[in-house]
Amino acid sequence: SNSLLLQGLGLAFTVVCGKGLGDLGVRSYGQLESKDIFIAVKTTRKYHKSRLELLIQTWVSQAKQQTYIFTDGEDKELQLSAGVNLINTNCSAAHTRQALCCKMSVEYDKFIESQKKWFCHVDDDNYVILPSLLKLLSSYHHSQDVYLGRFWFATGGAGFCISRGLALKMSPWASLGNFISTAEKIRLPDDCTIGYIIEALLEVTLTHTHLFHSHLENLQKLPTDTVLDQVTLSYGGFENTRNVVGLVGGFSLTEDPTRFKTVHCLLYPDTYWCPKLKGGHRH
Ligand SMILES: *[C@@H]1O[C@H](CO)[C@@H](O)[C@H](O)[C@H]1NC(C)=O
Repeated sequence: SNSLLLQGLGLAFTVVCGKGLGDLGVRSYGQLESKDIFIAVKTTRKYHKSRLELLIQTWVSQAKQQTYIFTDGEDKELQLSAGVNLINTNCSAAHTRQALCCKMSVEYDKFIESQKKWFCHVDDDNYVILPSLLKLLSSYHHSQDVYLGRFWFATGGAGFCISRGLALKMSPWASLGNFISTAEKIRLPDDCTIGYIIEALLEVTLTHTHLFHSHLENLQKLPTDTVLDQVTLSYGGFENTRNVVGLVGGFSLTEDPTRFKTVHCLLYPDTYWCPKLKGGHRH
């Protein structure tokens, strides 16, 4: 009868899709290592002291080889003392669409040159939780078309990641200065131009993740027990220095107004400048 046939189909569907779902649960391209990720940090010369030094002291220190800092002025002192990849883009230091697109264009070219598997872009007010980033990217393959982030028209500096496979397809509109002419044509900012090339021209949809965070959202609302599972964090925002994650640890709000040091010491308690808890046990 018909109902028997439907039951049979239903069973087949369950078997096939159930298996598929099972695979999804453990889906992992396990071999991904942090050295496979290219992390671009966008900054400007005037924020080297106030913003960049904090990043170098915290998460960048755990990822020196794969982090590339894109700026617009020389800083030999910082480069020598911190041993980081500091790239002077020679772009204008003005906070204009053109200057930002100029930096993104250099970031793209350096990523392609690097041969790494993933391109991730963050701002100089982002903390990158490296274990979470690695875990997130491990569930995709770099040769697939993957664009991870928040809504591209509302990224507001939360960061995004692009697989190498997809980045190579962007080449006609993004490589060797083409990014600047693409951005000029549509007159959108840098991150929106990335979204435009991927979603409008290449018709690849953004994979939404709520693990990326910017200063445009209320960071105090992030549940404390989930903070270390996020991929990027941020702080502050327009005249709102109190917009920080509500994490308590070895530093007061005065000592660690951004909470980045507190986050860092929870992730890497053996760091020499982290306060040692009484009894010496953190776990
Ligand atoms: C910026 O200019 C310097 C000096 O001319 C040059 O060595 C460097 O390669 C330029 N940077 C980029 C990203 O083109």
